[in-house]
Formats: sequence, structure tokens, C-alpha cells
Amino acid sequence: MSIYFTPDLSALKPYVPGEQPKDRKYIKLNTNESPFPPSQEVIKAVCSEEALRLNLYPDPDAGELCEALAQRYGVSKENVICTNGSDEALAFAFRAFCGSGRGAAFADITYGFYPVYCDLYGIKRTILPVQDDLTIKADDYIGIPETVFIANPNAQTGLSLPLDVIEKIVGSDKNRVVVADEAYVDFGGESAVGLTKRYPNLLIIGTFSKSRSLAGGRLGFAIGDRELISDLNTVRYSFHPYNINRLTMAAGIAAVGDTGYFAECVNEIIKVRAMTRQALIKRGFDVTDSRGNFLLAANKKISGRELYSRLKDMGVLVRLLPDDRIKDHIRITIGTQDQMDTLIRCVDVILKGLV
Ligand SMILES: Cc1ncc(COP(=O)(O)O)c(C=O)c1O
Repeated sequence: MSIYFTPDLSALKPYVPGEQPKDRKYIKLNTNESPFPPSQEVIKAVCSEEALRLNLYPDPDAGELCEALAQRYGVSKENVICTNGSDEALAFAFRAFCGSGRGAAFADITYGFYPVYCDLYGIKRTILPVQDDLTIKADDYIGIPETVFIANPNAQTGLSLPLDVIEKIVGSDKNRVVVADEAYVDFGGESAVGLTKRYPNLLIIGTFSKSRSLAGGRLGFAIGDRELISDLNTVRYSFHPYNINRLTMAAGIAAVGDTGYFAECVNEIIKVRAMTRQALIKRGFDVTDSRGNFLLAANKKISGRELYSRLKDMGVLVRLLPDDRIKDHIRITIGTQDQMDTLIRCVDVILKGLV
């Protein structure tokens, strides 16, 4: 830390992204990326004449992309904002809807960036522990004044709240905003986008990083009442008006348009997830009923840390999570069928070595 760093942030613990090792080639199952390449339409779009226009700033309103998303989700363009990854949408939401006495409330086991935004912006946080079975207790989110952040399906566990429960939380108090982070919703969750028409205090956050194979393009979005979106745009124009570059914008429009490839990828992940889950359960693992593109798994015979490092030695990278309550678990991103077959073969070797 330099002597110039503001003391306000001296205790800030930044978010730690999953490992991106360069030392060797791993089967990478640690950051919930898609194992499938982007759609061919995306490849065509980014190699098109748009590349020749990189000397010009992009459309600061990302109009065409917002329109494509609006059509896809059955809302108006004014209900959509596009962001540099959904991390940026979250950053804008924490800045816009918390502070001045209004704190943020979220689960203890959830996306690890939420507490970091609180610390970055000086927002008071209220942590609502998930239950012993790792599910979110909806009643904890009712009757509290804080802005609520719920990842649904939840990060790390993949467990999902049904739409009526989200509606109950949102409808219980229209004086505070509820942010539903739907990064993983396409893999079997229930999206609450439709509720945004009736609830002006509901903000949905989405990403192209998972189901649309564009983690490297950095593209996210938020959908909500036009006033909420206008607030987010006020923050965006005060921070980074050209937040979506031309190539990512073209990629995003093409990705939304290729509904066939999207469905193919999502269905394959759901199928491989079910088979991997059953294979792990058969081998004595506890595995959450995840609706994300990942599984959270633990086996009493071996610690999470040991399993993680044995798998890493064998060339399979999974995620060990910092949360104390799930320290005996590993989080496994769903890859291709071949990758998951290799994972299971490695698990068999490791478990066999224990007896
Ligand atoms: C729940 C959740 N929300 C948001 C994000 C951020 O994704 P991105 O910034 O790539 O859109 C992630 C990333 O893994 C996540 O797990």
C-alpha cells in the first residue's frame, strides 16, 4: 500500500477472482464459465466491419443491444441498461440504492462481491445466514429496511427460490429495492423479469458470461422500472459512459439473436449437471440440487482442501470457497461431458487411495 492510498480504503479486502493459472493446461471447472465457444453468429459479428470502426466511440446508450434485450425479455428499451459484466450492474446498484443510512442485506453464503461493494462504498451490511440446509430463509428478508440483494439461483449453492417467494419479498415493502441477481437463472431457475412490470422496486441483473458463453466479452445488464434504470444510468454517466465497447456490443446483439445455440448449450449443461450430480452422489458426496452451471459438493471422507489439491495435481481445477460454513465443499463448474467424465475418473482414483 502506498502512503497516498486513502485511509478510507486501507482495510478494503478486494474480491479474489478464481485462479486463472498459466503454468499448465487444466480442465478448468473453477469460475463457472461456459465450456462452449460463443455462437458462430457472435464470431461473425466481432470479425465484421464493426472492427473497422474501433477508432470511434461506441453508442453510450448501447441502444441496439438494449432493444434486442428488451425484445427478448418482453419489456421496453427504457427498462434495460447494459453494463461491463454484471459486476458493473451490481456496482451501480449498490451505489444507487444504498447509502445515506440505507444499508444492504444479503446472505452469508452468496456472491462474494456483495460485501466488497459495501466496503468500497462505505455501505452498512446486514448478513442473513442461510439455513443449515443452505437455503435462503425468505422471512428474514421481510420487515427489514435494507436494500436486498439475492442471487437467485444463489451463488455457491445453486439453490433457487421460487417466483412466488421472490414476489412475497418484493411486495412486502415497496419502499426499498430488491435486487435479484439472476446470473445463473437460465440453467433451471425461475426468472422474475415479468414481475418488474408490477413492482417498481424490483431490479433484475443478468449476464452474458454463463449461458451465452461471453465471460471474456464482459457483458451484463439490468432490467427494471424505467425510474430504477434511469437512476443506474445517472451513476453510469457519472462514472463510465462508454462502458460497452463496440465489439462486445456486436457480440451481445448476435448472442441474443441466436436463440437456437443458446438453448442447445443450456440444455446440454443441464443434462451434464444431472449426470455429474448422480455420479457424485453414488460416490458418497452430498451435492446441492443446483440450478446453476455448477455443483457444490462435499464428501465426509476427504476435506474440501485435500480434494481440491489432489484434483489440481491431476489437472482438474475446481473452486475452494472462503466461506467457513462450506469449507468442506468444493464448487465444480459443469463442463463438457468429456471433462466431467475425467473429473469423475479422478475422483475415483482419489477415493480409492483413501481406503
Ligand atoms: C451471482 C453472480 N452474479 C454476478 C456475477 C458476475 O458475473 P459477470 O460480471 O461475469 O457478469 C457472478 C460471477 O460469477 C455471479 O456468480
